[in-house]
Amino acid sequence: MTQNNLFFSSKEFKNKAWVKDKKIYKEAEKNPVKFWEKLAAKLFWFKKWKKSFVHNPPYSRVKLGTGRLAESENRPYFQWFAGGKINITENIFEKNLLGWEKIKNKTAVIWEPEPTNEEPKKLTYEELFKQVCKFANALKKLGVKKGDRVGIYLPMIPEAIISVLACARIGAVHTVIFSAFSPAALKIRLQDTGAKILITADGYYRRGRIIDLKKSADHGTKETKVKKVVVIKRAGNKIFFKKTRDLWWHELLKKENDYCKPAIMDAGDLLFLLATSGSTGRPKQTMHACGGYAVQAYWTGKWIFDFHQNDIFWCTADLGWVTGHTYGCYSPLLNGICFLFFEGAPDWPKPDRWAQIIEKYGVSIFYTAPTAIRMFEKYGEKIIKKYKFKKLRVLGTVGEPIDEDAWQWYFKNVGKSRCPIVDTWWQTETGGILISSLPGVGPFKPAFVGLPFPGIKFDILNEQGKSCKIGEQGNLVILPPFAPGLLQGLYKNPKKYKETYWSQYGNKAYFTSDGAIKDKQGLIRIVGRVDDVLKVAGHRITTGELENAVAKHPEITECAVIGIPDAIKGEVPIIFIVSKKIHKIGFCLEIKQEIIEQIKKEIGPIALPKEIYMVEDLPKTRSGKIMRRILKKLFIAEAPLNNCKANLTGQDLGDLSTLSNPETVEKIKKIIQQK
Ligand code: WT7
Repeated sequence: MTQNNLFFSSKEFKNKAWVKDKKIYKEAEKNPVKFWEKLAAKLFWFKKWKKSFVHNPPYSRVKLGTGRLAESENRPYFQWFAGGKINITENIFEKNLLGWEKIKNKTAVIWEPEPTNEEPKKLTYEELFKQVCKFANALKKLGVKKGDRVGIYLPMIPEAIISVLACARIGAVHTVIFSAFSPAALKIRLQDTGAKILITADGYYRRGRIIDLKKSADHGTKETKVKKVVVIKRAGNKIFFKKTRDLWWHELLKKENDYCKPAIMDAGDLLFLLATSGSTGRPKQTMHACGGYAVQAYWTGKWIFDFHQNDIFWCTADLGWVTGHTYGCYSPLLNGICFLFFEGAPDWPKPDRWAQIIEKYGVSIFYTAPTAIRMFEKYGEKIIKKYKFKKLRVLGTVGEPIDEDAWQWYFKNVGKSRCPIVDTWWQTETGGILISSLPGVGPFKPAFVGLPFPGIKFDILNEQGKSCKIGEQGNLVILPPFAPGLLQGLYKNPKKYKETYWSQYGNKAYFTSDGAIKDKQGLIRIVGRVDDVLKVAGHRITTGELENAVAKHPEITECAVIGIPDAIKGEVPIIFIVSKKIHKIGFCLEIKQEIIEQIKKEIGPIALPKEIYMVEDLPKTRSGKIMRRILKKLFIAEAPLNNCKANLTGQDLGDLSTLSNPETVEKIKKIIQQK
């Protein structure tokens, strides 16, 4: 199975795989549009598209679907399946490609609650369908119409899936907000999307504690357009219930009919908005359209995870992230398979909870993030020795680069040297996986994401726009016809859309903001972000948004955030703060605590720093620009596990002559070393 650090799947695996022959790449390359067209035609369309792909359509010819902004400058740069009519839920339920009769009594979702003494729940496709219809009807009665945005602020409970699908059923645009986001972060997201309805829960379990979600929702809905709040009873904690605004989910559903007609959606109509970190405090709302997204979600799941009818798939991502949307919900459902939905943390109450779950349900495909893998590894092999993971056949990873050590550990200890690992590269913006080896084809090379999915064209360009040579690092771009699921815009921000994705190399290449290298076989290695995005435990946080949150503290005059390598989380933020009161005794500790609270309040616990350093001044250029690069160099990564230490020797700090205050560098170094 191995050859020069290249891995291939077994004959037995290949025999059963959907794709086993690499000639599919050639076929797709000849005419990617035709290729996608053929794939798309397998789905159910109320009406077939008129044109499968349009690049830079003239404005007058672009039909703006519901929810799409009518401003001329926001016209899409490209369109897939223009004129086609579809509903993704129709493809999941009545018109599922496997046949409704075949799947309706099959388990769609297994829900594993966090408390180990609580019973799991199972929903068949038909049960799920009925719930979706009931809630869709309830939403309609609340006045929700096609194109309206609906906020979903929920823990990992079945109602989260039902809510998302109910929106899709009636053509409402779902906008899921990760449940650990703070009220302030929720508020911004509700304001930016203009949601009039919010679906939330009383509370949920996190590491044995009950989190009061409703309280956060109550705060986060202030100064927004939210008129009605639907509340799911999950944890039974006491909540404030505003009779004129709040409605109980279970009471709403009681009265509703269990069938609801699907809304006939234009391929270009919005299916969902999903926020991702922007370079300032305000997140960007990525716009995803109904048609292309469904096509990409269905096919990438089927081929990359090799979904077969008896599979049990577990994607550990929260529904609040794009991975949770596409592979924790839509893709397995479109493929008619059974998947797991887990409320808790993978290492609670015991470090091997995740392994127990795989074993208990016979999970056959497991998809998680490098951070989780490194955490499992840290707990040691002993705790998982007793697990055979006999049913496992495909492993997946996503969200950040995986180092070779973690890859090997995952391969040997979880996959028992038997399962191919699909290292899948994509982004919130791309809607679905764009680069990953196919499990039946391979090859799999540790720390490489492999080849682009058939029908996806890419390049690695240098700053001048020239293709990089083999082994040379450059910017990863996606070339026309892009991808059916690629974002159609940034909601209410056409300028930012153009600036972020289409200005580096013009309209002809989608700029990913990732640095990449290609090897001799054409396999791609992702080096990491070239912008100010940090990937902290796979979560996307910009230095700008963190700095914004910190700068809101009244005692802070200046601050700078950098990311440094971390053995478990991949990368962690380090904050440098400057305050006038630096010399006051006790002030330092106090202010650091306040900053921690400030970050929790503005963003949430995912953005907490590893360390906060109080310094007198920050290194700056003569024009006043903070040199984060130099701050970064004060730390050095210790291979192989990326443990970051202070750079004690102080070598290689680079040219300090452009600084207006080079003496600060020495001072900061001392402060770091004191730790
Ligand atoms: C960024 C996008 C896509 C779902 C979760 C993340 C990094 C993603 C990989 C991978 C190396 C990866 C990139 C990308 N990334 N997958 N397999 N190997 N890096 O979505 O939060 O929008 O982040 O995650 O840097 O640009 P996201």
